[in-house]
Amino acid sequence: MHKKILDYLNEAILLFNRQLSLTYINSAGEALLAESSKHVLGRSAKEIFKLSNPSVLVHLQQCLDNNEAFVDREVTLDNPKQNRVVHLSITPLLGDKACDKACDKILVELQPLDQHLKITKEEQLVEQYHISRMLIRGLAHEIKNPLGGIRGAAQLLDLELENEELKEYTQIIIAEADRLKELIDKILGPNKPPQKKSLNIHQALERVRQLVAAETTGQIHITCDYDPSIPLLQADKNQLIQAFLNIVRNAVQACQGNGKIILKTRVHRKITIGRRHYKLLVKVDIIDNGMGIKENMLGQIFYPMITGRAEGTGLGLSISQSLINQHHGMIECCSQPNKTIFSVYLPLECDDGR
Ligand SMILES: Nc1ncnc2c1ncn2[C@@H]1O[C@H](COP(=O)(O)OP(=O)(O)OP(=O)(O)O)[C@@H](O)[C@H]1O
Ligand SMILES: [Mg+2]
Repeated sequence: MHKKILDYLNEAILLFNRQLSLTYINSAGEALLAESSKHVLGRSAKEIFKLSNPSVLVHLQQCLDNNEAFVDREVTLDNPKQNRVVHLSITPLLGDKACDKACDKILVELQPLDQHLKITKEEQLVEQYHISRMLIRGLAHEIKNPLGGIRGAAQLLDLELENEELKEYTQIIIAEADRLKELIDKILGPNKPPQKKSLNIHQALERVRQLVAAETTGQIHITCDYDPSIPLLQADKNQLIQAFLNIVRNAVQACQGNGKIILKTRVHRKITIGRRHYKLLVKVDIIDNGMGIKENMLGQIFYPMITGRAEGTGLGLSISQSLINQHHGMIECCSQPNKTIFSVYLPLECDDGR
């Protein structure tokens, strides 16, 4: 029973004997070390921590020699797959007999922090994004109102003018006012609330694939890696198509006409978005092998008007972000040359059952 409880903990628990061989590891420990208990039990602490963080070995030995507990915050464990940040606690356990003064076993607790650090960072980003979006929306409204007046006045003037040459100027004013209004409408983003219906996410993705294939006349190879068991979600199909289309179009542009794009869907469990816990989500990865996003741009690409392309307006991702936010989801991005991944998370089930 106790072992079962230990397996439910999020914290990794490892138990070493006096020879510093591992005698117990719970499920969270296996996940943290990316090793199965079968494989790792009986191994020495040296084998386990030598590469990931040798200083843990020193603290284990000191704990053994001096019978003293040790704690450290934000310790990094270098893992070939993914570095992990943990709170580390090492406690000497005395033997069962009253006369036992030397420690018999050593308990190592590793509390993973990555998720916590990630959530804090994400919350800050979401907050920053909302503030800047509010400012931009306010500014856009202020421009839109007089713009209507300018266009109307130019139209009246156009009707009054008899000289065709002068009309050319009023037509320019009208055309430019229209262009500006279109841009501002894009900045203001979707103004309709989503019309949510039961949707198979793959229907939306297939539509995006067809549209992009038509636009690129088959030059870009799009591979689909779908999980067909993903449940239906409540979503506005057209809005999701628009959100994914903006991301996939960027991927096409990054590949500069010849590249590979993968659309991958999976079920994802347990994530916090904007302080709300979701237990079941769809994760859609859009992966391309293009040039990648420069590090100094990576933190800014979701803001409106941020573009790395001469002909870009910098609105695509900001619109996608708004549309996905309206579905209570989020978009993440990680990038390096030849591999950029945009991950879109869309909730299926909330932790409180909603
Ligand atoms: N998959 C990607 N690979 C490389 N760079 C990307 C990728 N996706 C986005 N970017 C970078 O992020 C910038 C912002 O993208 P966003 O879609 O918001 O604007 P845009 O593509 O420049 O213009 P618009 O979409 O409004 O026509 C792009 O200009 C590009 O520099
Ligand atoms: Mg774009």
